[in-house]
Amino acid sequence: MAEPMPTDNPFLNFPWGPIQMECEAYDLVVEGEVPADLNGTLYRNGPNQRFKPRGDYHLFAGDGMIHAFYIKGGKVDYRNRWVRTAKWNIEDSEGRAVVNAMNPFDCEPEYSDFVLVDKEGLANTAVVWHGGRLLAMEEGHLPHEIDPVTLDSVGSWNFRGKLHTAMTAHPKVDPETGEMVFFAYMATGPFASDLAVHKVNPEGVLTETIILPTPYSSMVHDFVITENYIVIPVLPISGSLERAMEGGPPFAWEPEKGVHIGILPRHGGTAEDIRWLEMDTAFTFHFMNGFDQGGVVSVDCCQMEHAPLFPTPDGGSTGKTEPRLTRWTIDMNAPEPRVEFEQIDEFESEFPQCDPRYLGKPYRHGWYTSPDGGLTSDLEANDNFFNTIGHYDHETRKEDRYSCGRSLVSEALFVPKSLNAAEGEGYLLSLATSFDTRLTSLLIFDAQDLAQGPLAKVHLSHRVPAGFHGFWRPGD
Ligand SMILES: [Fe+2]
Repeated sequence: MAEPMPTDNPFLNFPWGPIQMECEAYDLVVEGEVPADLNGTLYRNGPNQRFKPRGDYHLFAGDGMIHAFYIKGGKVDYRNRWVRTAKWNIEDSEGRAVVNAMNPFDCEPEYSDFVLVDKEGLANTAVVWHGGRLLAMEEGHLPHEIDPVTLDSVGSWNFRGKLHTAMTAHPKVDPETGEMVFFAYMATGPFASDLAVHKVNPEGVLTETIILPTPYSSMVHDFVITENYIVIPVLPISGSLERAMEGGPPFAWEPEKGVHIGILPRHGGTAEDIRWLEMDTAFTFHFMNGFDQGGVVSVDCCQMEHAPLFPTPDGGSTGKTEPRLTRWTIDMNAPEPRVEFEQIDEFESEFPQCDPRYLGKPYRHGWYTSPDGGLTSDLEANDNFFNTIGHYDHETRKEDRYSCGRSLVSEALFVPKSLNAAEGEGYLLSLATSFDTRLTSLLIFDAQDLAQGPLAKVHLSHRVPAGFHGFWRPGD
């Protein structure tokens, strides 16, 4: 019999707490009107711990669950499925958690070898549609292929034997060429001071791998591609096997390691060509976009003073920090290029997005989630839940915002109105989970008029646990 979840871990309780079911729901109830030209599937991924965890539990440690909203002709259907990773299958047959995903030294003894050889991980962070495959990613393991309609798990995907590293949860798909670029930190082994950059052609064939030594072993969550450069942020979340063996945190915020931003020529660059540039201490999980013009690289991210959700080397807390939209400027023409940065927006923001047709190019429109201070949290890392969607116009430097009040909002994804629509002309899709009803709705906004509120609210009769990232797959 499955045991109850601990009540004292916030990430196992509302709004993150897992749901215990997989289901289909057809023709969901819609308030307002789903735009008739919105045609495709919205996928969301996030941790949804199956069994009472073994040992400590962290937000990043739950079993991945995919939620799909199939949208066509003004109607919306829904399905959710756990990703059948090796861990999930073993625990399903055992009826309990046997693997501690956060600590390989704390597993049922008969599975201690499994965690060291498992290539599948948790598949709980993000999803991408590329080369005719839907892939669920974490960032420490191979991606997991999912059937785009049934959400059945196909199995881990190594690009026909060519991928020998993990895959980031933040691959970038070039809108012009269809090439997908992604990376893996600690490429050659646990806690290795290196990183691999991989390129995959539009047909899904892995064409190039570049192994780059890094200044130290670091956890790298996201990166940027521009027309001519790949920007790799080595920020001081250091990894240390030695520290872990001594009972300390395997990954910790260690600002004295310094910030090192790697700039690799996008086309034809090799490990010898990377330049590591210095930057004042800062941290970011996510980038909105980046581009280069005349040798000057501009990068936008939601920047913080330090990394939240990670401990200090002695296991202490790094405390509260507020991300804000910040532009990095890197003049590659300078004799000694350096990364300079400037905050460009007053509001707190996370989960930044751009119009994917402008990824890597000069762009005007960005979106993010934000708090309005009206929905407080007692989490150590942040005292507000993110209940607001924001649109930032880089040209006018103005924001258009909509607060969902007592609802937590997910990352909001932009979907163009049509293939030829102007930049930013389209819809913004976000999940909102009400703190009153404890149910989740899909909200569909006019991406350039958020303040008028959603064009449609599509209601589920259950909750989608607060998760991480999603992807839009256009329909026929
Ligand atoms: Fe992320």
